Amino acid sequence: MINVAVLGYGTVGSGVVEVIEKNKDMVNKKSGQELRVKYILDLRDFPGDPYADRVIHDFDKIVNDDEVAIVCETMGGVGAAYQFTKAALEKGKSVCTSNKELVAKHGPELLRLAHAHNCNYLFEASVGGGIPIIRPLNYSLTAERIEAITGILNGTTNYILTKMEQDGADFESVLKEAQEKGYAERNPEADVEGHDACRKIAILSSLMTGKNVDSEKIYTEGITKVTADDFVYAKAAGRSIKLLARSRVLGEDEVLAMVAPFMIDKSHPLAMVNGVFNAVFVTGNMLGDSMYYGRGAGKLPTASAVVSDVVDCARHLGRIIMCFWEDKDAHIADISGVETAWFVRVKTSALQQAQAALGAVRTLEVPGRSEDRALFTKPMKESEFAKKCGELGSDVLGTLRLY
Ligand code: NDP
Ligand code: HSE
Repeated sequence: MINVAVLGYGTVGSGVVEVIEKNKDMVNKKSGQELRVKYILDLRDFPGDPYADRVIHDFDKIVNDDEVAIVCETMGGVGAAYQFTKAALEKGKSVCTSNKELVAKHGPELLRLAHAHNCNYLFEASVGGGIPIIRPLNYSLTAERIEAITGILNGTTNYILTKMEQDGADFESVLKEAQEKGYAERNPEADVEGHDACRKIAILSSLMTGKNVDSEKIYTEGITKVTADDFVYAKAAGRSIKLLARSRVLGEDEVLAMVAPFMIDKSHPLAMVNGVFNAVFVTGNMLGDSMYYGRGAGKLPTASAVVSDVVDCARHLGRIIMCFWEDKDAHIADISGVETAWFVRVKTSALQQAQAALGAVRTLEVPGRSEDRALFTKPMKESEFAKKCGELGSDVLGTLRLY
């Protein structure tokens, strides 16, 4: 029997216990031994919960119990979660986590610590919720030189954008729905301002390069400026709007990474990823493109990924599962020199001036709209576009990069 402790009995943590119990025949068979949730650590008590008797409040009880071999960290944050993870790894207990903030911030250190103590730090659930993507990058695409990764990596924002597009729903009410469904972060600003997707692309970029890609150096824009008017034009242009997290290898140790809303052609596979679903589009130098798709957030999909790590740890007790992610920082290229084509929505009165200033290749008029018009630019440097747009001032009503 392998004893497991779950830290944090919230959305994901309660899902982990449920998956281990509901799928116990399968999970135990694949682990090679029976898995037993011995402790659940939380700040609260859960009277009436079927596992209320396992709930404790003192982490020391877990870390000092030699019977506990695997710890699931589903608390979130980089405070207590970091301290508890380190303490568990130092005792040789493997840790499986859904906490992308912690993985993005301290991934290489925690991996090093785990391996020094002959145990593992696994984080399949930290990117793309239930989608297997960390394991494919680590074990399946090992013959590839991965050149680029583009993903829809945040379920909350994809849910919001989809509802805005399909139902014309307003931002605030859909965000509330996403929170009720357990998709959103404790502070949903991390979702809507793009920080969560940024942490996830930092993790994927680190695995792509083997070097540490610092999330704090990645250019990040969220979805708060995307409006219903933008969707009207996107529809008229045969496009959708998605929050994309992109990363491309430029050279040895150098990556170009960014998170921003893009107006994407409807025919692209990423345009068809709707609701809470996420997708990761990986380009390798031999395989070419491959895409990984599934539910990017929510209790059971995320818990399923955490438990898949638990099974992996159970199969590798006392053995290290390799993960190439060095401490050394990769260089993050400045995006100001990147060439991007843009969608620009302007006041109708300023169309000609904007067309001339931005070198528009196409304009778009939506029947029934007299106040605004849209134009599409040729690719131009980010810095050049920002300067020209700045000169147009308040005549510019909205801008989105094209993909
Ligand atoms: P929740 O807030 O639902 O759950 C966290 C739980 O941990 C809460 O019950 C909380 O207690 C408890 N907790 C917090 N601090 C401590 C502590 N110091 N000691 C003991 N218990 C503590 O969060 P989620 O389950 O949604 O998310 C957990 C992690 O998984 C986060 O890192 C999140 O980013 C990540 N994640 C979440 C997904 C989702 O769909 N929800 C998907 C993928 C990843 P209390 O409520 O009393 O504060
Ligand atoms: N808040 C995150 C999201 C949870 O919406 O994608 C999954 O990481």
